[in-house]
Amino acid sequence: MLHYVCYLKLKTLCFLIIIFVFCHLIFQEFIFLNIKDEDGHSLPILIWWTNFTRLQRDRLISCSERACKCLVTSNRTRSRELAAYLFYGSHIENDDFPLPRNYTIPWAIFHEESPKNYAPFLYLETQNIFNLTSTFSRYSDFPVTLQYLEDLALIKDLTYYVPVDTKNKYLDEIAPVLYIQSDCDTPVSRDYLVRELAKFVQIDSYGKCLTNKSFPKELDEVYSLDLYNEKLLRFISKYKFIIAFENSVCDDYITEKLWRPLIVGSVPIYLGSPTIEDWLPNNNSAILIKNYNSLEEVANLIKKINANDTLYERFLQHKLKSKVSNNLLQKNILKDHPILAFECFVCERTHQSYTYNKRNNDLNIYDCPKPKAPEKENTWYQHWDVGKCQAKALEILLAKDTPYTSSLFEETWKTYFYNKNC
Ligand SMILES: *[C@@H]1O[C@H](CO)[C@@H](O)[C@H](O)[C@H]1NC(C)=O
Ligand SMILES: *[C@@H]1O[C@H](CO)[C@@H](O)[C@H](O)[C@H]1NC(C)=O
Ligand SMILES: *[C@@H]1O[C@H](CO)[C@@H](O)[C@H](O)[C@H]1NC(C)=O
Ligand SMILES: *[C@@H]1O[C@H](CO)[C@@H](O)[C@H](O)[C@H]1NC(C)=O
Ligand SMILES: *[C@@H]1O[C@H](CO)[C@@H](O)[C@H](O)[C@H]1NC(C)=O
Ligand SMILES: *[C@@H]1O[C@H](CO)[C@@H](O)[C@H](O)[C@H]1NC(C)=O
Ligand SMILES: *[C@@H]1O[C@H](CO)[C@@H](O)[C@H](O)[C@H]1NC(C)=O
Repeated sequence: MLHYVCYLKLKTLCFLIIIFVFCHLIFQEFIFLNIKDEDGHSLPILIWWTNFTRLQRDRLISCSERACKCLVTSNRTRSRELAAYLFYGSHIENDDFPLPRNYTIPWAIFHEESPKNYAPFLYLETQNIFNLTSTFSRYSDFPVTLQYLEDLALIKDLTYYVPVDTKNKYLDEIAPVLYIQSDCDTPVSRDYLVRELAKFVQIDSYGKCLTNKSFPKELDEVYSLDLYNEKLLRFISKYKFIIAFENSVCDDYITEKLWRPLIVGSVPIYLGSPTIEDWLPNNNSAILIKNYNSLEEVANLIKKINANDTLYERFLQHKLKSKVSNNLLQKNILKDHPILAFECFVCERTHQSYTYNKRNNDLNIYDCPKPKAPEKENTWYQHWDVGKCQAKALEILLAKDTPYTSSLFEETWKTYFYNKNC
C-alpha cells in the first residue's frame, strides 16, 4: 500500500507533486460545483464507496484514449449524475454497501492484493456482486497483472547488473542466496520453506524473518518503504540468487518479489503464481520451485548453477542479449498508475452504452487455492473457510436489498460456520 502513497523515488519530486496536486485540488474546489463537458452535459460521477487514501477531495479525470472525462469523488451523497460505485477490495466492510441497490449503477472493484486482505472475494458468490473487476488475474475486466513492473525496459537495463565473475568474488563474504522479508506469517508458509531450503544451501537472511544478517544502516530506513529503492537494488544485485516467494499462491499474482531480481540481474527462486511461465521474460528466467519434487532437489540445482557460469548465464538472456521474448509482457504493461488506470477504465465504460454483466460468471478472477498446512503454526487455511461462510452470508444479505448491521453479518456467517453449512 505504501508505495501508492508516495510512489515516486525522489523525495523532492514527490514533494513538488504533492504541492501541485494540492493546488490543483484547491482550484477544482472552486469549479467542481458545475463541471460539464464541452457539449454542456454534466460529467458522469464515479464514487469511491470505500475509503481511499489518495482521495480526500473531488477530482476531475480526463482519460486520454477516448477523451472521456469523469468526476471522481468519495462524497457518497453526490448522486445526481452517478455513473458507478468504486470499491477498493482491501477496504471493503462487509456491512457497508450502497443499499438498496440501484441495479442500473455498476459496482466496480479494484483489488490488486492477495487474499490475505479480503477473504470472501476468493469465492464466485462475492466476485459476482460486482459488475466490473480489476485484479491481478488476466480474466478480470481490467487486469493489473504487471502492476509492479513499471517499465519493461528495466528488465534489459544494465544499471544494477553485476557480471558473474564479480559475483563469484563476493561469495567469499556473502551467501549465494538472498532472502529479504518483513511479512513472516503467510498463507504459503514462506519462512518454513526458506528454513527448509537453508538446510541444504547457504542463505543470507535480512529483514524481519529468519534474520541472520543485519542491513547496513542506510538500508534499514529505506527497506519496505520503497520497493525499488536504488540503494536496495544496488545491495541485492551482488547476490547470485534471490528468494522470490509470494505470500500467496494465486494464478497471475506476481509482485516486486519477482521483478526486483530480474531488474538487477540476479536469478529469482520463485514460488507463487502457478501460471508464472506466461509472465517470465524468457523461457529460462527463474528457478521455479513448483517444477521440483523437493527443496533438496532445488538446493542441488542452485549449487550446480552456482558452480557453473555457463549455466548461470543462461538465466540472464534479458541482460546479456537484451532479449525479452515474451510478448505478453509488452502487451500488459500499464501505461499509468494502476488505480488511475482503473478509474479511467470505468470512466470509459460509463461513456459507452455497455452491458456490464457480460462477465462469464464461472470464471474465477481471484484463483487462490486453499493453502495446505506444511507446519502447525500455519492457520491460514481457516481464513479460506471463514471467507467461504462470509461469501455466503454476503450473498444472502445483499439479496434482501436493505441495509444491515455488522452484528447481523457476524451472526449470519458464524451460524453457517459452526453448522458447517457454507
Ligand atoms: C472512512 O472514513 C470515514 C470518515 O473519515 C470514517 O468515519 C470511517 O471510519 C472510515 N472507514 C474506514 C474503514 O476506514
Ligand atoms: C457532498 O455533496 C453534497 C451534494 O453535492 C454536498 O451538499 C456536501 O457538502 C458534500 N459533502 C462534502 C463533505 O463535501
Ligand atoms: C438509478 O440510477 C439511475 C441513473 O443514475 C437513475 O436515473 C435512477 O433514478 C436511479 N433509480 C433509483 C430508484 O434511484
Ligand atoms: C543463516 O546463517 C547460517 C550461517 O551463516 C547459514 O548457513 C544459513 O543458511 C542462514 N540462513 C537461514 C535462513 O537460516
Ligand atoms: C521455450 O520452452 C518451450 C517448452 O519447453 C520450447 O518448446 C520452446 O522452444 C522454448 N523457446 C525458446 C525460445 O527457447
Ligand atoms: C557447465 O555447463 C555446461 C552446460 O550444461 C556444460 O557444457 C559444461 O560442461 C559445464 N561445465 C562444468 C565444468 O561442469
Ligand atoms: C450488476 O450486477 C448485478 C448482480 O449481478 C446485476 O443484477 C445488475 O443488473 C448489474 N448491473 C449492471 C449495470 O450491469
